[in-house]
Amino acid sequence: MLKPDYPLKTARLLLRPFEPGDLDDFYAYRSRPDVFRYLYDESVTREECAELLTKLVADSELRSEGQRLALAVHLPEADRVIGSAFLKWRSVKDRQGEIGYSLHPDFQGRGYASEAAGKMLELGFDGLGLHRIVAECDPRNEPSWRLMERLGMRREAHFRELEVFKGEWGDLFVYAMLAEEHRNH
Ligand SMILES: CC(C)(COP(=O)(O)OP(=O)(O)OC[C@H]1O[C@@H](n2cnc3c(N)ncnc32)[C@H](O)[C@@H]1OP(=O)(O)O)[C@@H](O)C(=O)NCCC(=O)NCCS
Repeated sequence: MLKPDYPLKTARLLLRPFEPGDLDDFYAYRSRPDVFRYLYDESVTREECAELLTKLVADSELRSEGQRLALAVHLPEADRVIGSAFLKWRSVKDRQGEIGYSLHPDFQGRGYASEAAGKMLELGFDGLGLHRIVAECDPRNEPSWRLMERLGMRREAHFRELEVFKGEWGDLFVYAMLAEEHRNH
């Protein structure tokens, strides 16, 4: 069970549950096909964003296996939400988790995603007591795997053509980090 004290703080960001008033900021990146090029989800309309946001607003704790806690990444300097980061509890018994992240393109290239993802690793290892956390991406999504390497995650696998992704054969990189590696990073 993980019930963080919000907002979570990093050097430049606040991470907190989504709020109904985040719709404009959420829509600004959730509607962009470029942000969803390498994600399983697709970009969505404003109405669909509003529906998704309603579900996200209810997320503030991790209570059970399979659940995903998605938090808003808020940049106080711009007074807006610039993206999101998630922690998924993959296995209770084996203490396994997964992280993920997305940022509005206007705010990429400044280290904000690394900062947010680093906090999600901390939540997983220190907050939830996980033993191993993975992150996965399409090998063509270089900003994503560069981020994982920046955080000290190791590439454990390159699966070739394991699935049909958006109409073509897709590869997958799997990165991981152990609690011990996190402590020593
Ligand atoms: C994946 C994604 C979040 C990476 O965003 P990002 O901004 O490149 O990632 P980071 O926060 O790690 O920023 C790193 C970049 O900021 C630069 N940077 C500038 N200031 C920095 C700072 N203070 N600290 C760290 N990096 C800094 C780095 O040099 C690096 O630039 P480079 O890649 O040109 O070398 C972003 O591309 C994205 O949202 N993509 C769409 C969604 C997606 O694909 N998500 C991942 C699914 S697997």
